[in-house]
Amino acid sequence: MSQIRSRSDLCMAPLKILKNVRLACVGERAETVDHGLLAWNGETIVFAGAAEDFPAVEVGRAHEVIDAKGAWLTPGLIDCHTHAVFAGNRAEEFVLRQQGLSYAELAARGGGIMSTVNHTRAASEDELLESASRRLQCFIDEGVTTIEIKSGYGLTLESERTMLTVAAKLRQRLPIDVKRTYLGLHSVPAERKSERAGFLDEAIDLWLPRLHSEGLIDAVDAYCEHLAFSADECARLFQRAQQLGLPVKLHAEQLSDVGGSRMAAAHRALSVDHVEYLSATDIPALRAAGTVAVLIPAAFVVLKETQKPPIAELRAQQVPMAIASDLNPGTSPVQSLRLAMNLASTVFELSYAEALAGVTVHAARALGLHDRGLLAAGKRADFCLWKIDALSELAYWWGGNLLERRFFGGSSG
Ligand code: NIG
Ligand code: FE
Repeated sequence: MSQIRSRSDLCMAPLKILKNVRLACVGERAETVDHGLLAWNGETIVFAGAAEDFPAVEVGRAHEVIDAKGAWLTPGLIDCHTHAVFAGNRAEEFVLRQQGLSYAELAARGGGIMSTVNHTRAASEDELLESASRRLQCFIDEGVTTIEIKSGYGLTLESERTMLTVAAKLRQRLPIDVKRTYLGLHSVPAERKSERAGFLDEAIDLWLPRLHSEGLIDAVDAYCEHLAFSADECARLFQRAQQLGLPVKLHAEQLSDVGGSRMAAAHRALSVDHVEYLSATDIPALRAAGTVAVLIPAAFVVLKETQKPPIAELRAQQVPMAIASDLNPGTSPVQSLRLAMNLASTVFELSYAEALAGVTVHAARALGLHDRGLLAAGKRADFCLWKIDALSELAYWWGGNLLERRFFGGSSG
């Protein structure tokens, strides 16, 4: 239960209150509260808990009191893994996959990531900003308040910089917080296939420190896979990131087990993402490192994968599981985090409560953010009122407009 920390929390006007509200993900234990009240000052929650525990006198002096009439309130949703900045699309690969071609075969033919790299390099910053704004608006409209965006479709210093700059501008332009992840090791671009070592040296030792010095990077990621980069190559990137004080995360064990998760745990990574081929023997290391397993059910479905992540073992060993859209034009053309929640429930058999934790408290942790993802005193005032009767509806409906009202940094809209 989240309590007022001190009277000074309440003295900073203007206090705003939501009363007659059912609260989800309350306090560090992420409880639900049926007869709840939430109070906030500016951008910060000062109380979230049972209405009877809130001093009645403070309700009287509140600047604004909203009667939620029994509606459910959750933290703002958090999408902790997207590639939302890109140009073009890969609808033609969707058609070819229907004809039986695999992701690896398409990549070998010059499609896949490289196809999007070519489109993204050719696009202007404004074009990238416009198309990504439209995509982010879909997430905003369904209650997302924080989204992570990766680079990785540039693969030159200039074009990686453009992608990260666009991500930064999205945060200024839209009511959503954007965390920027450098994904310099996404693929060796076609023009550098014959000098892989030189590409690695630049991406790790030149571009990463440069873009970090320009204030463009919140975290560092790599695509660890037999068709991308080895665990040893990704480890080199991680060491450089850690010298710079940047947190790391990894696309790991999506199509095969190449030891990425083990290596990521050894570097105390924030998250390992996909993890369909994660070996059960690597799970204790994730648990010990505090690494989050980010599940990406949409990419699993799109690629017609058959091996599911080791959900039961992750659950049994209490590794936190987040859920992300992985919005990208190839493996996950998904502009809905709630659809990802539904797929996590229906395909990966998570409970609706696990799905909700996966897009709130655990997603925050996958981004290293301790100031959000829960309704509790001291957390950011990012939250959503829903037009639902049962909390399970958030994972149950496919599409639909369930959002009643969204608050971002304490403001509605
Ligand atoms: O998360 N696996 C690597 N990255 C993306 C796919 C990117 C692409 O195919 O364009 C993913 O699935
Ligand atoms: Fe991805």
